[in-house]
Formats: sequence, C-alpha cells, structure tokens
Amino acid sequence: MSVLVERMESRLFNGTVADEMIASLTDAIQERGRASLVLAGGMTPGGVYRQLSIPPRVDDLDWSKVWMYWGDERFVPHSDGRSNFKMVQETLLSQLGERSPKVLPVDTSLSSVEEAAAAYGELICREEKLSPGQLPVFDLVLLGIGEDGHTASLFPGSPLIQRTGGICFSDNHPSDGSQRVTLSVDAILAARRIAYLVKGESKADIVREVLEGAGNVDQYPANIYRRASGQVTWFLDSGAALKLAPERAG
Ligand code: 6PG
Repeated sequence: MSVLVERMESRLFNGTVADEMIASLTDAIQERGRASLVLAGGMTPGGVYRQLSIPPRVDDLDWSKVWMYWGDERFVPHSDGRSNFKMVQETLLSQLGERSPKVLPVDTSLSSVEEAAAAYGELICREEKLSPGQLPVFDLVLLGIGEDGHTASLFPGSPLIQRTGGICFSDNHPSDGSQRVTLSVDAILAARRIAYLVKGESKADIVREVLEGAGNVDQYPANIYRRASGQVTWFLDSGAALKLAPERAG
C-alpha cells in the first residue's frame, strides 16, 4: 500500500482529478479489458464529473468498458435532489450521449434500505463475477470525507467500521437520520486504487487529523485508508491542505 498526497490550487483540482481517473481507468482497460469505477457522492466530485463529461476528456476514455458503481447512496428516489445517482446523472451521464458505460446504481425503489443494500451486494457479485464470500477488487474507488471524518456512509462510531464479511450494508446518518446504503470497509479497502477528493478550508482540520493524527478509525472512519491493499491518493486543494505540515521539498 502506498499513500500519496497531491496538493494543488483549487482551480486545478477538477481537471487534475479527472485526468488521474482517465489514466487509472485506461490502464485497467488495457490490462484487463474493463474498468470498475466506484463514484463518490456529496458536493465535491460534481466538478470533476463535469470535466469528464466534456471534450477533450470525454473522448479520452472507452466508456463502453467502464462499470460504474456508487460508493454510497441515500435511500431516496433517483429523482430526489439528495440522490447521489441524480448528482452523477446531472454532472456526467446526461452529457455522455452515445457513450455508454455500464451504469449500476443502488436500487432505491426496493421496500427497505436493508433490502437495497443486500440487493446491491448481490448485483456487485454478479457484475464482478465473484464467488460466494469473495470481495470485489474495484479498479478505482472515489471517496469524500465529512468534517466529522466519515467517508462513504461509514459514520463515526458505527458498528460497520469493524464489521467484516460483507460487500454492502445499510446505516442511518447519525444527525439527520437519513437512510443510507454504503460499501463495506472491506469492499473499499480491497480496491486497486482509492482516491479521496477533498476541497475547501472547512475540511482542513479533519484532513490534518486523518493524515497526521493517531489514526483511530472508529473516531474518524476515513482513517480506513491506512489498511488499504492498493494505492491511496489524497487529492487536496489548497484550502483542504491548509493545516498540513509544509510539503517536504524534493
Ligand atoms: C455522501 C457522500 C459522503 C461525502 C462526504 C463529503 O453521500 O454525502 O458519500 O461521504 O463524500 O460527506 O461530502 P462533500 O463533498 O459534500 O463535502
């Protein structure tokens, strides 16, 4: 496992991350004939997804070989403004035209969030051709981080942080109570590459805590990166990196 921290001016963030995504996915397609991408929700990644949806970048990737999953989802209709699927639909999918990735959202029309989580885990097993109990090895998992240190929908103090043996679980947001479906810690950590996308001074404290602090995963679930199997990259704009120790020269 290697951890890279990429700091950059805010104006460069979306394009830099979009370029890195294209490079990772293209490598996967060249090596294995397909690429599995897990998208992050929230507000931060929208600008990155927009950069992917327009020339020149939109023509730099063979979208037909990309399997597109969600790292977490709110248990609301896909038409709901809180839906991570809707955010990706608006910022990326609606612009792809004939380019057709395999789009695999969480089915939030099912009768319960528990059923949706179980069904999503089964869908991932089918699409990734897994044996029972086998974990997916996604080529690239995008994650955000909340100011409380959550990532995906793995929240501080959640029993899901220590839970093993599953691909997808459900939980409730600790403050707003919203029902969530989330990839498991194991499914995230098995990825070939994990990329955290973090922008803004409001995240500077939690970024310093998670990159330079004690590493408690129950307190700050984003600390799970320390147990990742593959490459971990933290993409930070200057605001998010504000309180980190100065970069070592060279
Ligand atoms: C969600 C995300 C969540 C998000 C962080 C950061 O569904 O909200 O999966 O984990 O990545 O909360 O969100 P922002 O990018 O909006 O700060």
